[in-house]
Amino acid sequence: MAFNWSEFYTEQGGRGVRPTFTAGLEAWADTTGTSAPGDAVDLGCGDGVETRQLAEQGWHVLAIDSDPDVEKRVRAEVGDALASRVDVRRASFETLGDLPESDFIYAGFALPFCDPGHFPYLWADIRDALRPGAVFAGELFGPDDEWFGRAGMNFHDRAGVEAMLAGLDVVQLVEDNHRGMSFEGPKHWHVFHVVARA
Ligand SMILES: C[S@@+](CC[C@H](N)C(=O)[O-])C[C@H]1O[C@@H](n2cnc3c(N)ncnc32)[C@H](O)[C@@H]1O
Repeated sequence: MAFNWSEFYTEQGGRGVRPTFTAGLEAWADTTGTSAPGDAVDLGCGDGVETRQLAEQGWHVLAIDSDPDVEKRVRAEVGDALASRVDVRRASFETLGDLPESDFIYAGFALPFCDPGHFPYLWADIRDALRPGAVFAGELFGPDDEWFGRAGMNFHDRAGVEAMLAGLDVVQLVEDNHRGMSFEGPKHWHVFHVVARA
């Protein structure tokens, strides 16, 4: 069953930045010894809340999402004053190709929605784009997740996640396996909240 992202954006209206994003920026500050901004990618940026926060801090952000209204939504979130720091690209993970060299790649609750056959290529492109010392932060879903088996989604057990992170400095790998709520209603979540440094 396809996801209705419009319902998701409505339900999430007014949200703050996500904790894994904040943890990722803290890891970046540890890398640099300052919170000096660089080049960031927000993969599956959705409503653009994290994109805006990055732009406010001086980052240059490439915000990517396949949603048809991504440009309108992110431009509205970011506003005119910060617009020059943000590029918005409507693209799917499956057709994205190479990512630009980056200091911070954030993918909040987005990578699981990449087709499983393409996901290894997307992950390789993310890793290739990380400059030395750059930080990846984002979520992956595990096999206990209630959405396991949905068409077009990828899932990884803990060993699989650890294998994906091999060679990176794992700053945070929090496994969350609990019943909670989603924008579709009650749901069992199995989520890995990842922060890793190249
Ligand atoms: C759960 S939302 C997360 C949005 C935002 N990062 C957040 O934390 O609220 C997932 C986002 O990924 C986007 N998305 C889903 N499948 C995608 C794909 N195959 N390629 C690119 N974007 C996709 C959706 O349009 C949606 O905005």
